[in-house]
Amino acid sequence: MPQTSFVGRDSIDWELLHAKATEAMQRAYAPYSRFPVGVAGLVDDGRIVSGCNVENAAYGVALCAECGMVSQLQVTGGGRLVAVSCVNGDGEPLMPCGRCRQLLWEHGGGDCQVMTSTGVRTMNEVLPDAFGSRDLDEFDPTHH
Ligand code: THU
Repeated sequence: MPQTSFVGRDSIDWELLHAKATEAMQRAYAPYSRFPVGVAGLVDDGRIVSGCNVENAAYGVALCAECGMVSQLQVTGGGRLVAVSCVNGDGEPLMPCGRCRQLLWEHGGGDCQVMTSTGVRTMNEVLPDAFGSRDLDEFDPTHH
């Protein structure tokens, strides 16, 4: 069987991921909402990437924590997200917003695991029937 990753399903150190997410949350720039968010993701090569939300005086320009995380994912070598822990200012699990679930889908797919307040769920569970790159592949512009 081909080895797709050395990060085994059962070897996810959720405690460490939570600690990294909390550390990132403490760096959040959220003076407008006063709702700091931190997120950490385990990559399939064992790296941990993280991010925090960064707000703006033009409120709509705010960057979610997950945006920073996927940017760090790319800039440090890419790869697939295997597990993600997102926390609020109390360090409690926070469900990624809809837009960020889409970001996580792109870089982790349906099997990526997410820690939620009700336990570990997969992206397939939290973003069912997701739109993804395969939908683009199915469209043949030469037929139009
Ligand atoms: N926020 C995130 O960083 N990630 C999410 O998944 C939910 C929302 C941020 C955006 C904004 O800075 C603050 O939380 C309040 O909405």
